[in-house]
Amino acid sequence: MAPAIQGPRDLDPRAIDAALTGTPFAGQMHHFPTIGSTNTHALEQARNGAPHGSFYVADEQTAGRGRGGHHWHSNAGDGLYVSVLLRPQINTSGLIWIPLITGLAAHRAIEKTTGLIADLRWPNDLLMGPRKTGGILVESQLESDRVNAVIIGIGINLHQQSFPPDLATPATSFDLELKKHAVDTTDNIASRQLLLIHLLIALHEELLALNSATTAANIPARISAISTWVKGRSVHVHGPQECTGITAGLDDHGFLQVRTESGLVRITTGGLRDAAG
Ligand code: BTN
Repeated sequence: MAPAIQGPRDLDPRAIDAALTGTPFAGQMHHFPTIGSTNTHALEQARNGAPHGSFYVADEQTAGRGRGGHHWHSNAGDGLYVSVLLRPQINTSGLIWIPLITGLAAHRAIEKTTGLIADLRWPNDLLMGPRKTGGILVESQLESDRVNAVIIGIGINLHQQSFPPDLATPATSFDLELKKHAVDTTDNIASRQLLLIHLLIALHEELLALNSATTAANIPARISAISTWVKGRSVHVHGPQECTGITAGLDDHGFLQVRTESGLVRITTGGLRDAAG
């Protein structure tokens, strides 16, 4: 029987492998038409010894997970839902860099795929203006101070035409954003396959940069250059270090500093909202 003709939203494993040659991700794709959560699956695979560079991509997730226990809406074919398994040579203090470099990688991949410039909301939300277009959920398996495996889950909204009204941050998709720029999206410009390839290549580059002390030291400055959130923004921090204040830049370790009424606070975990909103 002749193979089914691939629609523009399908993934072509051979083309993906070829494009990923020279990265740890070549030949490591596991594709699921539907799955509960690619992050949950990747965590299981990490426990079973799956190698560095394995990645798990689904067309649909029935139990997609976001940060803070939120559900990640993952309707079939609407977005990129991928989890990457890494076994990096870092200890637990190096974990802070993983969501940050993933944000940098996603930012670059989005620009290369769609021509659009996403904003980064510390630590790792991707936004177009006030609307969220993507999120990153990093989970790790530790053995005392050693990092046994890190799972980087990335969800990026591509083809959604509408979103549930009850989201913590209003959302948008790249098809909706491209339409605002009068780009005809019928050719599937926000291509999931291209975005996946650009994302993994950019992540590979960021991981290489993280291995060099000189380039790793530039990460906070690189985030500051592309984010409207890390300096001079009036924010409310939610999570265990809840406070309100003005963002005052990232420190050398990538932690966010917020100037509050009671002084400068170093935020090590949590998320941001506009103070006004
Ligand atoms: C966030 O809350 O902003 C993070 C969302 C992360 C969603 C992705 S989709 C692929 C991977 N599998 C999951 O269950 N979650 C992540």
